[in-house]
Amino acid sequence: MDYRCYSGNVNELPCSAAGSCSADLRAKLDKSTTSLVLKTAEGNGRFTGLNIEAVDLGDLIRRNLSLNEIFAAKKNISLELVSCPDLPPLPIDAGKINQVLNNLVGNAVKYSFPDTLVQVSVERSASDVTVSVSDQGKGIPEKELHKLFKPFGRTNVTATAGERSTGLGLAIVRKIVEGHGGQIGVRSQLGTGSTFRFSLPVPS
Ligand SMILES: Nc1ncnc2c1ncn2[C@@H]1O[C@H](COP(=O)(O)OP(=O)(O)OP(=O)(O)O)[C@@H](O)[C@H]1O
Ligand SMILES: [Mg+2]
Repeated sequence: MDYRCYSGNVNELPCSAAGSCSADLRAKLDKSTTSLVLKTAEGNGRFTGLNIEAVDLGDLIRRNLSLNEIFAAKKNISLELVSCPDLPPLPIDAGKINQVLNNLVGNAVKYSFPDTLVQVSVERSASDVTVSVSDQGKGIPEKELHKLFKPFGRTNVTATAGERSTGLGLAIVRKIVEGHGGQIGVRSQLGTGSTFRFSLPVPS
């Protein structure tokens, strides 16, 4: 199964929200997502609005998972770091990438049933590091995938324990990842689970 990758206007509203969304709300939304300020400074590829430092991504992921384990334990869901190669320090905003992980791991737990497993893996190629978060949860219907990564892009897949859902997490995740020059993608099978993955460039 291929990953569906995303590009284009991240502020675009999914069809389901578009009808019920006033021009005023749209304007506010555009302003608030834009205020995430992930602009690439022209020419030299550096970011403004991101606090870029040399970060040990493996360490960041391990810390993130140990904190999210507390929430996952409430559903008896195990979080597992399946693979993580040695990585060079990456020029990323640790706080923002932590936010990406919080939403992807949080979603994996939120849309999964108790007693399942969430697996995180990290792969490295010459040009990128890719982080995948896989769950054994509800999965997302193919015809709903287009709603993801857009503000208020909730699908008909609901949380398994009544957790809150605003539908903003993935839109923010996408802004952050693209702000780092990376890409985000998903593959999902209804009733089996989902894998969300994002890549971050490794400077040459
Ligand atoms: N791992 C997953 N499994 C199944 N459905 C998912 C998964 N992740 C996201 N979704 C679907 O995509 C929608 C959008 O996710 P997103 O993270 O943007 O918002 P949310 O989790 O509903 O709310 P929040 O703003 O608190 O993150 C969810 O409402 C859900 O329908
Ligand atoms: Mg979320």
